[in-house]
Amino acid sequence: MDLSIIVPTFNEGPNVDELLRRIGAQLAGHDFEVIFVDDSTDDTPAIIVAAAAAADFPVRLLHREVATAGLGGAVVEGFHLAASRWCLVMDGDLQHPPEDIPRLLERAAAGDADVVVASRYISGGDSKGLANSTRTGVSRVSTLLTKSMFPRKLHGCSDPMTGFFLVDREAVDIDALRPRGFKILLEILARRQLRIAEVPFAFAARFAGASKASFRQGIRFLTQLTLLRFGRMSAFALVGGAGAIANLIIMWGLIRLGLDYVVAAIIASELTIIGNFLLLEYLVFADMRAESGRMRTRFLTSFAFNNAEAVIRIPVLWVLVESAHIPSVLAAGLTLVAAFVVRFVFHALVVYAP
Ligand code: GDD
Ligand code: MN
Repeated sequence: MDLSIIVPTFNEGPNVDELLRRIGAQLAGHDFEVIFVDDSTDDTPAIIVAAAAAADFPVRLLHREVATAGLGGAVVEGFHLAASRWCLVMDGDLQHPPEDIPRLLERAAAGDADVVVASRYISGGDSKGLANSTRTGVSRVSTLLTKSMFPRKLHGCSDPMTGFFLVDREAVDIDALRPRGFKILLEILARRQLRIAEVPFAFAARFAGASKASFRQGIRFLTQLTLLRFGRMSAFALVGGAGAIANLIIMWGLIRLGLDYVVAAIIASELTIIGNFLLLEYLVFADMRAESGRMRTRFLTSFAFNNAEAVIRIPVLWVLVESAHIPSVLAAGLTLVAAFVVRFVFHALVVYAP
């Protein structure tokens, strides 16, 4: 087989027939398959099954009951299922025109690239299909930000956020991928230095349905960037830092309301502990959750640990304030920094242990 086309779908029923028709028209004479990795909550799987029966090329469907890691996770599952070494990833809503597939294949045939990226941002391409200027602006800024964070690995890639690319599966360390959300190409390129080639393409308007992009996807993207660039510990530090700031602000507010600083520190710490756990759960350790038991157990372990730590921290705080005469908020800041390292080790090795 020459080519496996991987299409992640989430409620794309009305696009399926048109997509397969146009792919088929472009690839007549090729030995290829289309793999839908579907997380739909509607009748899309049934539509795919019917379309597969009618198609004159292999159309496969993996419907996931648990949509692990969203779009990116779906693409990784597609890599595992693919019969061909070369995999084309494209959206199911026809924003990636099947008419561009032959040019991607031609470019790959030159033999000097591990991945051929369909780019909106080289001459001949355009991003008009992004529909509004906010999204265009966000896309441009995040592309620049991303490229400046991976200057070497993304050298020669003008559009690391595109969802349309052709890749040699054997050049990718698939098991090292930790996809979360939409930016699967970035995940692939940031992990290992690949030889990148590009062809321009015009990002089209959606054929039917609505985009699944959201503010939440944006947050996931920022998390992904942090994790890729600085590793888990930095993401943890970022969450911890945000928590420490929240802790201090709450404490300051409570003191202003007339509470004693010790009481204020206790309340601020409890609130921060709960908030921190949620951020760890859904951002920092999101990829380890599935293998580390029940959320309730993790919460209780984390909560108990952080409280034990806080219980130790408060007397230390008291000593720093009363004996060393350090201002209370500064003293609290110092104890939080010291606690950080211990907390990271405990969470990585105990709370999220497989
Ligand atoms: N399996 C699966 N699971 N598929 C999903 C999920 C999910 O959770 N979320 C979205 N998809 C599918 C959609 O059904 C569609 O086929 C494709 O992924 C892209 O989703 P859209 O909702 O159409 O996203 P978009 O058009 O806003 O974003 C596209 O363009 C961006 C560039 O601006 C995507 O290609 C992004 O990857 C790309 O960065
Ligand atoms: Mn789309």
